[in-house]
Amino acid sequence: MYTLDPIIVDQVDALMTGETNPVVVLSNASAMLADAMPATNWVGFYLFSSKTGTLDLGPFQGKVACTHIKPGSGVVGTAYAEDKSLIVPNVHEFAGHIACDSASNSEVVVPMTVDGRIIGILDIDSPELDRFSTKEQQTLIEFAAALAKHVDAAALSKVY
Ligand code: SME
Repeated sequence: MYTLDPIIVDQVDALMTGETNPVVVLSNASAMLADAMPATNWVGFYLFSSKTGTLDLGPFQGKVACTHIKPGSGVVGTAYAEDKSLIVPNVHEFAGHIACDSASNSEVVVPMTVDGRIIGILDIDSPELDRFSTKEQQTLIEFAAALAKHVDAAALSKVY
């Protein structure tokens, strides 16, 4: 069982203080998580674009990934449509799972909300089955909430 030290919630808040560029904020947030979470092969963000109506690839650590995901599609699109964090212990058993990296076997997703609107999804994949615990998920939910306070949604909407 892996653990994620909840100190990372305070750390992300401290690191992002004063930073206004959402690409900078999300890029370093993905690096923080990738560094803190062993046995992960993809850590990043899908950001809702009002231009395309899809969840578009955002800053991440990992291999080349799927670029546009429809709300309701796959794990990411389901988390967005249902505004719900999900742990998927075996992605091959999730109906509609979108396989971006064939190495991925389990996944956790957390919606990110800014000013009452879901701006996107934090997505983390692992090559191990059943990699993510509910305790880690809770820390990731708190991490996403702390991070969201540093995301300038208006600046983000110029790109997405
Ligand atoms: N597996 C995800 C797609 C994104 S990748 O994992 C980076 C899904 O089913 O939505």
